[in-house]
Amino acid sequence: GHAVDFLRALPKAFENRVPPQCEHHIHIEGSLEPAMLFKLVEKHGVTLDPAMYSTIEALEERYRNFANLDDFLAYFNKAMDVLIDESDFAALSYAYLERVAGDGLKHAEIFFDPQAHTGRGIALDVVVNGLKKGLKKGQTAFGITSELIMCFVKHLPVSSALDAVREMQPFVESGDVIGLGADSSEVNNPPSKFAEIYSLARELSFPNLTMHSGEEGPADWVRQTVFDLGVNRVDHGFHAADDLELLDELARRDTFLTLCPLSNVRLQVTPEGVHQSPIPLLLGKGVKFSINSDDPAYFGGYILDNYVAVQAAFGFDKATWRRICQNGIDGSWCSAERKQELF
Ligand code: HPA
Ligand code: ZN
Repeated sequence: GHAVDFLRALPKAFENRVPPQCEHHIHIEGSLEPAMLFKLVEKHGVTLDPAMYSTIEALEERYRNFANLDDFLAYFNKAMDVLIDESDFAALSYAYLERVAGDGLKHAEIFFDPQAHTGRGIALDVVVNGLKKGLKKGQTAFGITSELIMCFVKHLPVSSALDAVREMQPFVESGDVIGLGADSSEVNNPPSKFAEIYSLARELSFPNLTMHSGEEGPADWVRQTVFDLGVNRVDHGFHAADDLELLDELARRDTFLTLCPLSNVRLQVTPEGVHQSPIPLLLGKGVKFSINSDDPAYFGGYILDNYVAVQAAFGFDKATWRRICQNGIDGSWCSAERKQELF
């Protein structure tokens, strides 16, 4: 309705700068659409649990009914079994860029989970080289710049994450991977458990560090992430909003939150809808953030759908959108030259 019309009219207000310029929180495996999944099942002749995977329609319906993060992760981690050769990874990353080109996206910082692939016998260079091929093809076709950020998974032992970080070092040196993040199950996994992994990443000169924190975990875990681990980008960071003093501190430190409004609805963080998001509070407190899709194939929308849902919930004015978009550009991990082009 009205909110959608307002947002679609924004490009003119931005002198043809379409609002979703940058995305910072997208798991490439979370862009695996049911249609591509079933296509790859046929291509490789793999067998998936028929109780989980019957038809595209049934799967899409199941995706509308996640109970929590771990319920989603069971599907997210299983679907990956169909990603086997380099062309699968290339097709996946290209399809994402093709889809968000239509949303006006210009720059994407993309997560992937190396352990989820190497752990089932896929070589790391198949994963990284495949993703890179799709991204390069997408940059040529659509002009979207992109970077890869590896995430270690919190549900596996710290020793496995340390191995994954060491194994990634050549790809960091080549510039193919620009940072370290952490994702997967948050319950029973306080950030302090992972301090050694961030120390190793610093030793190995990973240029950028982030961590999923405060999606289901408490504000105190966002504190640990920022104060104890020294990580100044926080993925989600949702529950930081439960602690007003922490918000003041995040604003003072220029900590950047990558929010995912539709993800929060699907994973029952904001079960009633996007209007339960703390976005207005964050704006009031001067905490910087961007709006992102997280796992668009699972959560009912790509980046523009997330922008539209936020506008439908809050009805921000043009100046507010301008500020959100500028903060997103400022918070990006791209070159100063590229930021200039995005402005
Ligand atoms: N949280 C944690 N792990 C994830 C997510 C998320 O939102 N998406 C994919 N892996
Ligand atoms: Zn995420």
